[in-house]
Amino acid sequence: MSRFDKKLERRGTDCMKWDVVDKAFEAEGIIPMWVADMDFETPRAVTDAIIRRATHGAFGYNVVPQSYYDALINWLKRRHGWEIRKEWIAYTPGVIPALYWAVGAFTKPGDKVLVQSPVYYVFYNAISVWNREAVCNQLVQTEDGYRIDFADLEEKLSDPAVTLMIFCSPHNPVGRVWTREELEKVSQLCVKHNVLLVADEIHSDLVFRGHKHIPIASISEEAANNTIVCVAPSKTFNLAGLATANAIIPNKKIYDAFCAERRKSAIHTPDIFGMIALEAAYDHGEEWLEDLIDYLQANYDYLESWLAENLPQVKPLRPEGTYLIWLDFKSLGMSSEELKTFLNTKARVALDQGYWFGKGGEGFARMNIACHRSTLEEGLARLKGAIDAL
Ligand SMILES: Cc1ncc(COP(=O)(O)O)c(C=O)c1O
Repeated sequence: MSRFDKKLERRGTDCMKWDVVDKAFEAEGIIPMWVADMDFETPRAVTDAIIRRATHGAFGYNVVPQSYYDALINWLKRRHGWEIRKEWIAYTPGVIPALYWAVGAFTKPGDKVLVQSPVYYVFYNAISVWNREAVCNQLVQTEDGYRIDFADLEEKLSDPAVTLMIFCSPHNPVGRVWTREELEKVSQLCVKHNVLLVADEIHSDLVFRGHKHIPIASISEEAANNTIVCVAPSKTFNLAGLATANAIIPNKKIYDAFCAERRKSAIHTPDIFGMIALEAAYDHGEEWLEDLIDYLQANYDYLESWLAENLPQVKPLRPEGTYLIWLDFKSLGMSSEELKTFLNTKARVALDQGYWFGKGGEGFARMNIACHRSTLEEGLARLKGAIDAL
């Protein structure tokens, strides 16, 4: 029995995933397998550290302790072989704010930002909020999963109006953990065409056995000098509500410009509990994380064989990382609007709609399998019931 077999009731905790799902999907009794957080308790060490700090009772202004930096530095070194320095770390209250600030700080009106669709839809918001244009280097689906079209990437990066690229590594939603060769090519092309690389590595700890995440800034000095890497303990340890992430920026000029943009939002210090949680998770959460990866792998294996046996019309893409499964519903022959209505009101399974992720997302939906096995079983049974009734 895994520690993740314990069923956690999340309803009634003002939880976005469960408490507003009916409203968000305009469907009653819909099962939430959408937003990227997990139906699991964080490691006990994290909860204990928060309780210890909470019982002190005074929550005035805080500073970032050395132990916070040490925990992050040691984590990146231990888990990903990346040696970073304290001066490279810029706190952010989430990866999304970091992306917004990067676009604000490093693009000007008329500039364009490159993304690789289908991709986490908030990337588009971080671009449009500044009235910049998104340029898509669409990922190519092959028999072996998605690949980067490097010729198209180079052509688009060579447009002088393209000054920044937001790169998702590992990739949400297609689940790729990019290889060293792919990372080298992406980084070299950005350097060659003078495009700043912003790497969203929020899913980097959630990598299945047989794959290895490589921080893109760790591959060369040239890469480090041209990259902002965003990391967080939030996906890994289910801490998104504690709003704590970090941008790692080795280049001092880029670091200073990023922090200047951050100052405009009047953000100065991390949340006390977010800092405590990051430290406890990185210092004491490793064994828990290994168990989590096993549980997620078992959930995926279950999903894959269940679909093959019971619902072959729906094809899952085997992920190399993340707990987000890209499901291909194209055999149903529905338009994006029809698929959405079908999933919400007939199957009553709340999934992130493929078209939200941009070009190439049509006909797909994203399922979050970081849930109790019984939730997964229920979600799959509902899909089958609805598809059988078509
Ligand atoms: C690729 C990616 N980046 C960022 C986020 C959210 O970041 P945060 O909650 O730290 O702002 C998510 C959440 O799903 C994500 O998948």
